[in-house]
Amino acid sequence: MKGRILGIAGPTVSVDIPGLKLYDMVQVGKAGLTGEVVRLESGRAVVQVYEDTRGLAAHEPAFGMDVPLTVELGPGLLGGMFDGLQRPLERLRDQAGPFLTSGAPLLPLDRDRVWRFAPARQAGDEVHAGELLGEVQEGALLHPVSAPCAGRVARLCAGDFTLGESLGEMADGRQIPVIVPWPVRKARPYRRKLSPTQPLVTGQRIIDFLFPLALGGTAIFPGGFGTGKTVLEQAVAKFAALDIVVYVGCGERGNEMAELLEEFVTLGDPRSDLPLMQRTIVVVNTSNMPVAAREASIYTAVTMAEYYRDLGYHVLLLADSISRWAEALREISASLEEMPGEEGYPTYLTSRLAAFFERAGVVETLGGKVGSLSMILSVSPPGGDFTEPVTQACLRAAGAFFMLDTSLAQRRHFPAINWFQSYSLYQANLVAHFEARVSSRWGELQRSCQRLLQREETLREVTEIVGIEGLQDTDRLVMSVAERIRQEFLCQNAFTEDAFSAPEQTLARIAELIGFYDQAESRLQQGVLLEELLKE
Ligand SMILES: Nc1ncnc2c1ncn2[C@@H]1O[C@H](COP(=O)(O)OP(=O)(O)OP(=O)(O)O)[C@@H](O)[C@H]1O
Ligand SMILES: [Mg+2]
Repeated sequence: MKGRILGIAGPTVSVDIPGLKLYDMVQVGKAGLTGEVVRLESGRAVVQVYEDTRGLAAHEPAFGMDVPLTVELGPGLLGGMFDGLQRPLERLRDQAGPFLTSGAPLLPLDRDRVWRFAPARQAGDEVHAGELLGEVQEGALLHPVSAPCAGRVARLCAGDFTLGESLGEMADGRQIPVIVPWPVRKARPYRRKLSPTQPLVTGQRIIDFLFPLALGGTAIFPGGFGTGKTVLEQAVAKFAALDIVVYVGCGERGNEMAELLEEFVTLGDPRSDLPLMQRTIVVVNTSNMPVAAREASIYTAVTMAEYYRDLGYHVLLLADSISRWAEALREISASLEEMPGEEGYPTYLTSRLAAFFERAGVVETLGGKVGSLSMILSVSPPGGDFTEPVTQACLRAAGAFFMLDTSLAQRRHFPAINWFQSYSLYQANLVAHFEARVSSRWGELQRSCQRLLQREETLREVTEIVGIEGLQDTDRLVMSVAERIRQEFLCQNAFTEDAFSAPEQTLARIAELIGFYDQAESRLQQGVLLEELLKE
């Protein structure tokens, strides 16, 4: 399907290609820039171009590719670094240098890389559709390959192969696919959704203990400038107990991304001893990259995450920050002259975000396995104002909310999660799990901890009037223990050994603090002086 460019307005280009469908991919100009059809009119289609449109001229050729924006799924995604259109950044750099050139054609998965395939079946076997044919060793993970249809296996490779060659064929001539193309805007299918009942252990005490996350759950970290969103997301990416992490650097600083990558290449995964990078997929669209591809980047990332979920793994998608994605959406919507909603964001912002969150969950896959996709998105509300549209839209859809508090960050209390404003809808379900696996006192200690923090807050108002000396000893004890809870338990420095705390350690630490409080309180009753108790 061929045509020409009619007009160009920033990242949107109108073309006269006949027969286009909404969301079809289009290549525009001599440079072959990639774009997507976002509006159709009679005789004219509007294309949102994902690359820099500078230098593009009217009347240059345009091609309709007759497919929607699609990614490649298969072995080799793990450890990979891609841009928002799934172009492999490392191989691009090796080929064309460190500066991204527009329209460089490179397939996302390396066709020359050698993989090892361990067959479970052999030529001549009768199999049913979706039956396991064998596994590819991908880093520490086994990557299952299933039969594309029912029938007899005509040929199946054993040992080394490359993605460029075929793995085998069925008797009816059908190839056994290792690379699966998938349109990014369409959620991948599963048999059924299950309710999230297992915890996602992050290693952050305040999260795991007070506001636990569930595997397959969704959470947001909204916080103003410098409140620790990036540090927290990266700490979770490093330590969370999961098979695979997909990290989307969405419109944030390039140097932070570079540091993260460097760390991931050198740091080992405690569970497999392989570099962390081997279980990580990074999608980058940093602030210095073309803004339009940012809108697509979260879909590219979530599709890869769903793919590993479908292989039966537990996957976490982290995006920093979804606000930059919403800004890209706003920019595109404005250039299409759509009717603006609140603060200029398109009216469909909430439904788009909700549909995105909907792609998380625990599922029974088509192959009968259980896999999960959890999501944690950071939100950067301008001026730290949580009533702005993006935070509000996320709030409605997410299962947990960690409010990052500017005043805590200023006092260098990190992670600056406000313990009064944050919540997790998974908490009630997960307490039972922790009580069964870690300690039967989990729920009781959680309530004691919350009660002490709450009493401290009330007493703080009193001390502002009467001073600390005006308090009774029992109240001063509460103030003293609550302070220790804040400093020794809730604070967790991401740059020291303390960065990760296993649930058992978390529980031991809070049990010690609450135990001290209970004992001290009963000794106060017996007439021991507070000063002496606090000295111990
Ligand atoms: N858990 C932590 N432990 C120790 N220091 C932290 C922690 N979290 C944040 N900090 C400190 O706060 C600084 C700012 O954190 P970060 O860059 O994550 O903020 P941000 O919310 O991502 O900011 P921005 O809105 O600019 O993206 C860090 O450089 C670090 O010094
Ligand atoms: Mg940041």
